[in-house]
Amino acid sequence: MKIIKADNYEHMSKMAARTMASQIALKNNSVIGLATGDTPLGMYRELIKIYEDEELDFSNIKTFNLDEYYGLNIDNENSYYFYMMNNFFKHINMRKENINIPNGMTENIEAECFSYDKKIKASGGIDIQVLGIGVNGHIGFNEPNTSFEVGTHLVELEKETIKSNSRFFNSPEEVPTKAISMGIKTIMQSRAIMLLASGEKKAAAIEKAVKGKISTAVPASILQLHNNVTLIVDKAAGEFI
Ligand code: PGA
Repeated sequence: MKIIKADNYEHMSKMAARTMASQIALKNNSVIGLATGDTPLGMYRELIKIYEDEELDFSNIKTFNLDEYYGLNIDNENSYYFYMMNNFFKHINMRKENINIPNGMTENIEAECFSYDKKIKASGGIDIQVLGIGVNGHIGFNEPNTSFEVGTHLVELEKETIKSNSRFFNSPEEVPTKAISMGIKTIMQSRAIMLLASGEKKAAAIEKAVKGKISTAVPASILQLHNNVTLIVDKAAGEFI
């Protein structure tokens, strides 16, 4: 695992955006795995700047998002579809048909999950997957004790995750309790992975992910077995590594 320690959140975001921009510049039809949450917001802002200032071309890029809440419509402002459109896609020249986010309103979960993985494969596989990390070590919405061997699937969110994500909702009761998430198996099939973490509340999870035993108790620990992972942390998140 390649570990890069950034000075702060801005620096982490700039390095992450530069990594993505060079992937796109080198392969204009790259397949990119994207994440939501607070952590990648700075990276998206930087990528929009690079798009505007340096004419980075997203017109042949395909994206696959890690996850989506189950039961939220795309026009719900807490859906990850809404987040992606507002924070990134509407500001760049992505083609709508190249954007893939699990359908949280599906009536057939199994078919949705199966076809999501199939579509990733059919597109040639993910060139680079962006990941955040939960305070409990989750990646995507793969909570502790999820099998490493599953593809995209329906997930029951942990209390801690619901609590942490309730900051975006009016009350914790409004947070969906389920999500559709790429599985660890799907994530591990990406050719490259870039994990971002910022702030002291992530320091313990990062320590366990990087130095701890590989165990489903800390889903991110599986990344130790991937041969092309870049971890970009700011000083606070990287305190123990
Ligand atoms: P955050 O979420 O970027 O909002 O901290 C990361 C995650 O829970 O995976």
